[in-house]
Amino acid sequence: MVVGKINDDEFKKKYDKIERVPPAGYDNANDFFEDVFMDKDMVWMGQNTNHLHGDMIADMMAKSVMDKEFCKYPPPEGFSELKELILDDLGLDDSFRVFLTAGATESLYLSMNALLDSSDNVITSDPGYLIIGSFAERFADKVIYVPIYSGENDYKLTPDLVRENMDENTRMIVLIDPLNPLGTAYSEEEIKEFARIARDNDIYLIHDITYKDFAREHYLVADYAPENTLTIYSFSKIFGMAGERIGGVVSTSRIIDQIKNVVINDLGVNIIAQEGAIAGLKTKDSWIDEIRDITVKNQELIKETVDGIDGVFLPVFPSDANMMVIDVSQTGINPKELSEYLLKYKIFTREGDYTSRLFGDRYLRVSFSIPTSEVELFCREFPQAIEALRKK
Ligand SMILES: Cc1ncc(COP(=O)(O)O)c(C=O)c1O
Repeated sequence: MVVGKINDDEFKKKYDKIERVPPAGYDNANDFFEDVFMDKDMVWMGQNTNHLHGDMIADMMAKSVMDKEFCKYPPPEGFSELKELILDDLGLDDSFRVFLTAGATESLYLSMNALLDSSDNVITSDPGYLIIGSFAERFADKVIYVPIYSGENDYKLTPDLVRENMDENTRMIVLIDPLNPLGTAYSEEEIKEFARIARDNDIYLIHDITYKDFAREHYLVADYAPENTLTIYSFSKIFGMAGERIGGVVSTSRIIDQIKNVVINDLGVNIIAQEGAIAGLKTKDSWIDEIRDITVKNQELIKETVDGIDGVFLPVFPSDANMMVIDVSQTGINPKELSEYLLKYKIFTREGDYTSRLFGDRYLRVSFSIPTSEVELFCREFPQAIEALRKK
């Protein structure tokens, strides 16, 4: 595998016939997720959700329920207060428009649907959040998953890699920043460079900033290429509201109008979720430092543990997200077996193939926006899991 290049045959072979194998002992993934969800003792490191919040957001949602606000339909594009708060959070002025959806996921899908044609290609990365690529595959001619799992390119899709993989049919670049699963993020210079590429080639840039608030520094492509950029926003991570399913897309009125042409859910987004999101944004200054401090400490604990194990390493440290990749390829251990082993000790993690088709056999992804005591449990069990599976 040459990092940065993937030829068409290899691409077809890898992407056309992949079937998701359900976890051992399950007929399908849904039954598995339901089981882990129902297990209240499960240590939640397998989804990059945030379990560190107090009651501020929850109280506001409870009030909305008790006031029975849910009897009414919400305004179809979302409450103005929430849309203004999102623009403030991003430091964008009101020349931008916000469209709220059921999570960032729906925004990603609608954006692909509205903007891509069957002759277009889309550039994204592997590893990455593969669902985005699979949405793009439904509307574009092809998706180019640039292999990025290498220190040569700092484990991220660089502007140079994008240029090397572009052709006259490239219509969209998908930048996940910070990146799920590796936690790599971009400097201001790199962001400006991506903006230049989008402007010079008159193409769209999807900037998925789902994990932005965990990053040490974060910059918006929208500041440098406003006409080309769709900024994808989520309340699932720093706000800890994954189950509420709320997020949105921020772009120009022209692009938002395009997106509205393909909307399905035109009766708007869950009112309770919107009230929670408003509370989250209004109170953010009072809780964000504590959540970030805990996640920094948690990832340091994992690093110490990993550093003590032969043949296991962190490709990216520190991570600028609330998750990281632990590379186990030198141990010969299959990451799927590793995650299944940890599950027996009530630790839910994710094997690499959830976020990579090319490198998934090399790593385990763990997220760490959970109480430190639970990370300490992981740090006790993980070395033992490695030793037990190494012997096999
Ligand atoms: C990069 C990225 N974008 C979007 C999402 C989904 O966000 P939401 O829960 O807001 O739909 C995820 C979830 O893990 C993600 O990793």
